[in-house]
Amino acid sequence: MTKQEAMLALNNTIMQCKACPLCQKRTSAVPGEGNINSRIMFIGEGPGQEEDKQGRPFVGPAGQLLDKMMAAIGLDRTNAFIANIVKCRPPSNRVPEDDEAQACLVYLRKQFALIKPDIVVCLGSTAARHVIDRNIRITRDRGNWYEKKGCNFIATFHPSALLRDPEKKKDAWEDMKSIREKMDELGIEHK
Ligand code: URA
Repeated sequence: MTKQEAMLALNNTIMQCKACPLCQKRTSAVPGEGNINSRIMFIGEGPGQEEDKQGRPFVGPAGQLLDKMMAAIGLDRTNAFIANIVKCRPPSNRVPEDDEAQACLVYLRKQFALIKPDIVVCLGSTAARHVIDRNIRITRDRGNWYEKKGCNFIATFHPSALLRDPEKKKDAWEDMKSIREKMDELGIEHK
């Protein structure tokens, strides 16, 4: 099976998943999208209203800001991959419960294993806690690099947090610059 076939098969499995109660209220699951050969992956928390409608990640207001943040460092959906901790929308956009995240993380791990990124950017504390370290506090620990299994992980503010509190944008911009530097260090292509 090619990598593309494996990713399509995984997407199909996710679209039909009934592993946790979030499946009951979804319009569509949101597996993730982007370039499966990319060396950089962005991970959010879970689909919001617009994502649930369209079946695509980060297409609502937070997504528009994420697109701008990515564009600032030469990235878009053709040269990066975007996924979420949970693939189905939590009611009223609440934070996913631990058991929902645990049930869904098998899919993120498979995405990670197929893509084998060199950089993973965790957007917000939910992604950072499930992917990097349970005890991460986003305000304290954002912008730090963590190396695990040969991959470089960083957490920054979730774009929704930046929309709620534009004061945080300065720090987020520093993080994006640091990501760009790491990309250059690792020879990761960008526009
Ligand atoms: N917020 C997220 O964390 N993920 C999305 O896909 C959209 C909004």
